[in-house]
Amino acid sequence: MNVSDSERVATSLAGKGFEITHSEENADIILINTCSVREKAEQKLYSRVGRIKKKYDEKPVIGVMGCVAQLEGETLFEKINGIDFVVGTRAVGRVSEAIEKVLNGENGFTDLGEREADYDWNVADAQRNSPYVAFIPIIEGCNKFCTYCIVPFSRGRERSLEASEIIRQVLELKRRGVKEVHLIGQNVNSYRPETDSGLEMFAGATPFSKLLRAVAATRIEIIKFNTSFPRDFHHDIVDAIDEHENLANWVHLPVQSGSNKVLKAMRRLHTIDSYFKRIDKLKESNRNISLTTDIIVGFPGETDEDFRDTVKMVEYCNFDSAYIFKYSPRPGTPAFEMEDDVSQKVKSERFTELESIQKSLQSTNLKRYINSHVQVLAERISSRSANDLTGHSSCHKIVNFAASDDMLGKLVNVKINEIKSNSLFGELN
Ligand code: 5AD
Ligand code: SF4
Repeated sequence: MNVSDSERVATSLAGKGFEITHSEENADIILINTCSVREKAEQKLYSRVGRIKKKYDEKPVIGVMGCVAQLEGETLFEKINGIDFVVGTRAVGRVSEAIEKVLNGENGFTDLGEREADYDWNVADAQRNSPYVAFIPIIEGCNKFCTYCIVPFSRGRERSLEASEIIRQVLELKRRGVKEVHLIGQNVNSYRPETDSGLEMFAGATPFSKLLRAVAATRIEIIKFNTSFPRDFHHDIVDAIDEHENLANWVHLPVQSGSNKVLKAMRRLHTIDSYFKRIDKLKESNRNISLTTDIIVGFPGETDEDFRDTVKMVEYCNFDSAYIFKYSPRPGTPAFEMEDDVSQKVKSERFTELESIQKSLQSTNLKRYINSHVQVLAERISSRSANDLTGHSSCHKIVNFAASDDMLGKLVNVKINEIKSNSLFGELN
């Protein structure tokens, strides 16, 4: 979401005559986009601003956006010396106004206001990371309030984009040569637009599965979506994937823990049985759907037995990859009030053990790809070898293969002959 925000801010600033540079040395204005979901974001911001101030005789204008901006607001000016303006998560459409205020001599300008009704969701080709892949936010914010998570506070309530606007964007991107779109949001499958506009002709048990069918009907080559919330993961989503080849065979479904007791304390709104039901449905699909997840170890009150349940859960699900995090208390969240009673040592031990179990399951699991053919979008020349191209498969694996650069932007068929821990190698077919 943060990358996507940055792309849109760059688009809007470039449209207003600013020249975008990614090199700090050349910049007159530096915008720092912050994320506080896991890292010690405030500390990082403090050192970054300090470094910039020290390095240049004439200090560039420094603006802060993202979660830290939203959560801290004006207090950032007191905490960190050198910041010129602060723009919250829903005020990113007004960065140019903030810059103007600072250039006109206003000190400590803060905008934590709501998104404007005519906010421009488009990203210019030049500001996208890849000419062939685009991210479309379909829902922003989060209403779930998992007890450990800062997002509902930093991103506000859920708000869905009208389907007709999403379809318009997909068609426009397709016309401009984009091959793969990612529908993104904290919980894409909680998608609930205010009207049915754009969905009228599509069947589906939930607005999200209708949206998937509507986007599939645009015939854009590849559609991925991320992240899904287990409670709202209706089996009709799997049916939609089965029906439409351009809906990619990858689902990211964060489970967080294998213990019902911990899940309840996290307020995740799913149980392990209900999660397994969704996994079973995904595994029954005829699409060979790749499954990935997020897991937190060391949540307050997590006993050894709870952790063993997490290990069993990982063994049951056979994830293609899992992002594992050590619990870290976020001020302002309900879990911050709970006693952080799992020691750093035990958190690290559980992290290391789970990581090694997952790695070993993963390497066995990924062997199913050997000698198989996967569809890959050739995205760029490999940084390791000028004779190789690299891209993502429909199952969202990084795949490297020997090919010349005239294949860039094409969807190619690759036969896999080697599995590495984080990528696949193969040859063009
Ligand atoms: N501590 C550790 N991990 C966290 N995540 C979110 N908040 C925390 C926290 N306080 C992880 C969750 C989530 C992912 C994006 O970050 O696993 O799914
Ligand atoms: Fe955070 Fe839970 Fe919302 Fe995900 S669903 S963003 S973990 S509160």
